[in-house]
Amino acid sequence: MPFANSLDLEQTVISLFERDGWQVKPALPDTRDYTFEMERGEECVAVQLRNHKAKVHVGYLEKFLDFLEQPEGARFTRGFLISTSGFSPSVFTYIRTEEVIDISLGTFKDDQIFWELEEPSPTPKEEVTYIGVFTCKGGVGKTTISAHLAGAFALNGYDVILIDLDRQSNLRKLLGDGVYLPGPRGSLGATITVLNHSEWREEDYPDVKIVICDCSPEYDANPEEFIKRFNYCIIPTTLNPLGINKNADVIKRTFKAIRRVNSQAELFVLINNYHADEDRRNEVLNDILKTEFKELTVDDKRCHYIDPEMVAIRFSKQLLYWGYHLVEGSKPQLAFREIAGRSFPKADFLKLLDYLEDHTNLEAAKDSA
Ligand SMILES: Nc1ncnc2c1ncn2[C@@H]1O[C@H](COP(=O)(O)OP(=O)(O)OP(=O)(O)O)[C@@H](O)[C@H]1O
Ligand SMILES: [Mg+2]
Repeated sequence: MPFANSLDLEQTVISLFERDGWQVKPALPDTRDYTFEMERGEECVAVQLRNHKAKVHVGYLEKFLDFLEQPEGARFTRGFLISTSGFSPSVFTYIRTEEVIDISLGTFKDDQIFWELEEPSPTPKEEVTYIGVFTCKGGVGKTTISAHLAGAFALNGYDVILIDLDRQSNLRKLLGDGVYLPGPRGSLGATITVLNHSEWREEDYPDVKIVICDCSPEYDANPEEFIKRFNYCIIPTTLNPLGINKNADVIKRTFKAIRRVNSQAELFVLINNYHADEDRRNEVLNDILKTEFKELTVDDKRCHYIDPEMVAIRFSKQLLYWGYHLVEGSKPQLAFREIAGRSFPKADFLKLLDYLEDHTNLEAAKDSA
């Protein structure tokens, strides 16, 4: 639970550390990269306190890691990320799979800090969740997003079925029958199985609760029975000046096409090929797209525009050359391997997963309120 007053929280946490022999100093002025710093012997630690109602997600972890790797962060030997509401499962996945060793996670509860050592097991899901990745336009990243969202679920411990609804069968070509992602420290991992739509029967896969469909840009090529089942639909698009009005139009047409058969699905516009360093131009383009999009949300509360500041799929070499294994003749894999210590795709898709899951919880909480 968050503290009513962040300053009280800070004081309480500082006294806990001081009791343990840490010498605490305030953060440098004008920084929000960390809350305070402290020293003990050889150690110099940056502490970031997060007093949110929601669990801390991968975005905050990535931001803190970025800071520690920059020149201003270099003097710190470690970072402590402390939350009053715990951490999303993806945070543990990211720490484990990127082998982050210089950050410790703590949850502040009942006037104590509990250091998080164990990864929580995935929350069992009762019902099968259907996620469609769909847009009436070709080449904007449907196949890439379907496969890697499946990958994020698998990294978090869920077995996933990926259904290839596209006539080109790109998923089959790229992933064959599927892939296996090993679990933490030798424990069991999770599988991604690629099927075509006629091969999928829920009763054959009792352990699978996540089904992701890579849809065809030709609406009629997607069996309606699938569109009807979607709980979520992700509509990828891009922020580029030439295409911006056309993209808005494509999104509107896609929404209408889905709504003809499915009135319940939560629809999310997701920006792909995002260049995160283009702050100003992205802001302008984003505003244009968002404005176009607003009229849709007036009547339909289940249409969402994911602000790229929150979650977007960044442009990356890993995703651009994903599929190179076909050229090399090597075994199928996802673009989650890091280059120079980082994997943008992994962080982005874990964030997307968190976003979708948070959304479900929020909706559930609202319904029961
Ligand atoms: N975020 C990204 N960064 C870099 N390259 C990307 C990104 N997303 C997609 N790509 C590249 O763009 C190309 C098209 O992506 P993809 O095949 O996923 O699109 P699609 O919507 O499934 O296309 P189609 O309509 O033909 O099925 C691929 O070569 C992929 O490697
Ligand atoms: Mg495709």
